[in-house]
Amino acid sequence: MSQLFSPLQIKDVTLKNRIAVSPMCQYSSEDGFANDWHLVHLGSRAVGGTALVFTEAAAVSPEGRISPHDLGIWKDEHIPFLKHITSFIRKQGAVPGIQLAHAGRKASVSVPWEGNKALFDESGWQTFGPSALPFSESYTLPKEMDKSEINKVIHDFQLAAQRALKAGFKVIELHAAHGYLIHEFLSPLSNQRTDEYGGSFENRVRFLLEIIASIKKVWPETLPLFLRISSTDWKEGGWSPAESVQLASLVKTKGIDLIDCSSGGNVYDAKIPIAPLYQTGFAELVKKEAGILTGAVGMITTSQEANNIIGTGKADLVLMAREFLRDPYFPLRAAHELTEDVKWPIQYERAKRR
Ligand SMILES: Cc1cc2nc3c(=O)[nH]c(=O)nc-3n(C[C@H](O)[C@H](O)[C@H](O)COP(=O)(O)O)c2cc1C
Repeated sequence: MSQLFSPLQIKDVTLKNRIAVSPMCQYSSEDGFANDWHLVHLGSRAVGGTALVFTEAAAVSPEGRISPHDLGIWKDEHIPFLKHITSFIRKQGAVPGIQLAHAGRKASVSVPWEGNKALFDESGWQTFGPSALPFSESYTLPKEMDKSEINKVIHDFQLAAQRALKAGFKVIELHAAHGYLIHEFLSPLSNQRTDEYGGSFENRVRFLLEIIASIKKVWPETLPLFLRISSTDWKEGGWSPAESVQLASLVKTKGIDLIDCSSGGNVYDAKIPIAPLYQTGFAELVKKEAGILTGAVGMITTSQEANNIIGTGKADLVLMAREFLRDPYFPLRAAHELTEDVKWPIQYERAKRR
């Protein structure tokens, strides 16, 4: 059997193969609500044979959204439609996962097809960060969070996790990457605090550890909790692969089951050597050095690449984003290419290549 199609059990959840749909913002919500777009978008990828379907970043509070049209999970009214989606995903034999996020200083911008522009008018809002440092000159100035604002966000993550459970999600991924709020606390480039949340490694990771602890109080022991990190800021003086390994070793003891190793996003002028599999080395490093399950992501586009990553033990899971926008049925195609006989949706059986 090809390694890509071997199952992976994490706690009480069994993934039927090693392919996950990476979180992808759809900027298609009003007031944070999921709708038919999300059902069809996520549902198609479940039909396409992937093991784990992550929602896009779901904001834990309205001000934690990147744009006014982000998905949200900050109120109970968001639960029923999300539940409709998770139930459909599960009926396809896939596992529904949700990414919980707060956009921090990168919040309050227009949707990509309107230019990702900072919203300085009444459609925008006050952004928050560890320090009063804007992402770039064209972004709004974040408010440096005080202790009560820090505690509120920690509580918002806890409430969001509770709602995610009620909505039927089986995996939570905490978004601590791409320059959003948690990453902003981790990196010395965006965190210049002088209190217990800034300075040393121990201080910069405190906010994340407090969020993990608050989620663990409500998220069952039997269900996986993933952490997405930016393994490096790709900038001198920033968050580094060595710190990623140190963090992974630490959170492994705090209830994180898998590190999803992405990179970048915290500074606008980073030089990122984008190429096929360019982040896979981080998943390999963290897996080997910290002894924790990892996910590889970034420019993985073919069945051979994905199968090699798993087969050579570089990562335990492959997360794919843009290839899934080109082909929602990527896993069914990959199975054929790797001569794996996987179950197709009964409705599509007649199209299965033999
Ligand atoms: C349309 C789109 C939306 C994205 N939204 C998110 C998101 O909500 N959360 C996140 O962590 N990454 C997000 N990403 C990044 C992807 O999850 C992934 O890490 C990145 O695209 C690299 O993988 P790929 O080369 O397979 O596309 C997004 C990417 C795309 C293309």
